[in-house]
Amino acid sequence: MSTKDDVLFVLENNRGRYISGEELAVAAGISRNSVWKAISALRDRGYSISAVQNRGYCLSGDDDIISTQSIARYMDAGDFFELTVMDEVTSTNALVKQLAEQGKPEGTAVIANSQTQGRGRKGRSFFSPADSGIYMSVLLRPHMAAADALLITTAAAVAVAQSVEEVTHRSAVIKWVNDIFCDGRKVCGILTEASVDFETGGLSYAVLGIGINIAHPRQGFPSELNGIADSLFEQEAPAGMRSRIAGKVLQRFLKIYRTLPDKTFMDEYIRRSFVIGMKVDVIAPSGTRSAQVLGIDADAALLVRYDNGEQGRLASGEISIKEKKNE
Ligand code: BTN
Repeated sequence: MSTKDDVLFVLENNRGRYISGEELAVAAGISRNSVWKAISALRDRGYSISAVQNRGYCLSGDDDIISTQSIARYMDAGDFFELTVMDEVTSTNALVKQLAEQGKPEGTAVIANSQTQGRGRKGRSFFSPADSGIYMSVLLRPHMAAADALLITTAAAVAVAQSVEEVTHRSAVIKWVNDIFCDGRKVCGILTEASVDFETGGLSYAVLGIGINIAHPRQGFPSELNGIADSLFEQEAPAGMRSRIAGKVLQRFLKIYRTLPDKTFMDEYIRRSFVIGMKVDVIAPSGTRSAQVLGIDADAALLVRYDNGEQGRLASGEISIKEKKNE
């Protein structure tokens, strides 16, 4: 963690309350001068920190800044997750992968205010501007076959869709396999990266990464995402909204994860999947083929009928929507 994050961490633990420069310096293990520089850098990043002589510094309690404390308020799964909130990272998935390799336990989670190299599927980037989204990754160490790792993504998709609906009252649907849509636009992407133990064929660990567009980004979406991506709120999100959604998602995910092998959540995944019945392009390394989606099975595989009548079962991959089936 940078000095700035160390100071932020202490301020978060005392949100809404003044803490002296001296106390901050001791708690963050840095000099008074470094505290002052860190406070200044945090203010530049938009954190509302007031300073009062003889009282110290205070991080405002009524903004939309994410913190471990503000997120923990919306979940009661605190003993599973070990949350770290950071201001800016390259990629929370990359960071949590490093932590996994260092042997950190299941439940280790990093949540960032922005990412400079947010990763999407298939080597794409994920637009992760500051102050508008939630970018989080969770380390999981499930006892499961590598082939079942897709269930982590689908469980997270259900958790996100449920949380979005609960908090925003907008209907949330799923595009196989990892995207959440509201009103025809993508509002969330999920990327699970797994490490396989080749001796057992099981997972050594998986990093579940979730990116949710919550408030409209200050600079707007890049032109290539116009008409494709959207945020849950048209403008600014209400105070505390990002923390609320992050907390709800983690809590709901954990509930499903605890009974993951039962696959009972797959009924809801299928119910929320809007691609069933649609004409799509199946994008595979061997080429793109036009098909109709027939369904999704309990292992989250997509069942399709190609235009030549052949049927297929996709355990992974990507589709792009062409048009809705005429019934
Ligand atoms: C996709 O839409 O293709 C998946 C996007 C996944 C984005 C999230 S944001 C948090 C985590 N860290 C990353 O670098 N990517 C995931």
